[in-house]
Amino acid sequence: MSISRRGFLGSAIAASVGTGLNARGLNAQDKVKDDVPRPANPFGAGKRPIIICANNGVNYLDDAFAFLKNGGDTLDAALRVVKGPEDDPNDDSVGLGGLPNEEGVVELDACCMHGPTRRAGSVGGVRNIKNVSLVSKAVMEHTGHVMLVSEGAERFAVAVGFPRENLLTERSRKIWLLWKEYHSTDDWWGPGLADPQWKPPSPATSPQSEPQSDLWEQRIQRLEEHAARLGIEPEFRMAAIRRVLSPPTGTIHCSALNDKGEISGCTTTSGLAFKLPGRCGDSPIIGAGCYTDQDVGSAGATGSGEENIKVAGAHTIIENMRRGMPPLEAGLDALKRIVRNYNNDMSKLKFIDMTYYVLRKDGAYAGVSLWEGYSSTRAHKIAVHDGAKRSEVTVALFKGSSHEFPPFPVAMPKELTEDSVYVK
Ligand code: GLY
Repeated sequence: MSISRRGFLGSAIAASVGTGLNARGLNAQDKVKDDVPRPANPFGAGKRPIIICANNGVNYLDDAFAFLKNGGDTLDAALRVVKGPEDDPNDDSVGLGGLPNEEGVVELDACCMHGPTRRAGSVGGVRNIKNVSLVSKAVMEHTGHVMLVSEGAERFAVAVGFPRENLLTERSRKIWLLWKEYHSTDDWWGPGLADPQWKPPSPATSPQSEPQSDLWEQRIQRLEEHAARLGIEPEFRMAAIRRVLSPPTGTIHCSALNDKGEISGCTTTSGLAFKLPGRCGDSPIIGAGCYTDQDVGSAGATGSGEENIKVAGAHTIIENMRRGMPPLEAGLDALKRIVRNYNNDMSKLKFIDMTYYVLRKDGAYAGVSLWEGYSSTRAHKIAVHDGAKRSEVTVALFKGSSHEFPPFPVAMPKELTEDSVYVK
């Protein structure tokens, strides 16, 4: 199964070229990667026990790893990791404080798979319950079903003891309001005529207008004024504006493997910010947001949920590994299926982003992404703990960063793409 680094890179790039990848619609820097930072062990067997997760779980790995090493169940270890961001009101990608749907209501999705007993649980579109990852486990343990959604899932959660609480933090509510007002030049949201600060919407600041690079300054200034009026803290304003202009799909996945070779995984999210009510992404879909097979390994996803559902990403990766592909190649192949779904059209692919987290039963792992990061400074990362905790840059199929969607004809200004604008 082993393959040299040079040999693999050559074949990966050749495969990309062979599938017709081209530079249509790409900027000069957006070329298929010819060199990549590598995980420590992309091809050989890894260590056990081991936990891998999206990088927003890195602060919770020590506790979960100690639990796993002391004989804790693999699914419970993975759930310990994702519960951290679910409980954190400042992580606006999952659980409490997650960015809401277009009506300002937080709706959460999650699923889990327990390898040793080959069981699964899932919940979608759940309101008012913070730890939906644990609710998905409860569905697995306390029902004969696999998936519950919406009001039924909420009622089930309450019945088995989860408290109802308001998940919309002040910060997330204000970002939603900023989004709402920014997109409302032709309805009653935002300050009305009678407001002393009212200004007629100008072509420069209307989201419906074609943005020009020299109009960005006015547009962002208008957004900053809105943000200040809404009481968004000065140090968080640019981060809030970024979320309004480019709604994120934050999520966390975690897979855990113990020294006996038992393996489990889970994924949880608040989904795409400002989505239509009722929209479920990939995270609660067994086989898309997460898939675990005790015979093979576990995989999960963060990123464009709609795209991942169409390639059943996590299941595809596990089946690739079952057929002998190493984790890195298995993950890259799933990314290439997304590329194939768009007939390799880079003018569309540049608006998609996807990261897969792959863990094989022997401890080998990989993190792969469609693009290197969201911006030049924000590379996609996988967090790992196998006795040593670390974050590693994922292996990207394409060089450069994905573009914001909805699309802008001109690049987003630097102050909106730098790390410093992010609180988390
Ligand atoms: N991957 C998270 C979502 O699209 O909802």
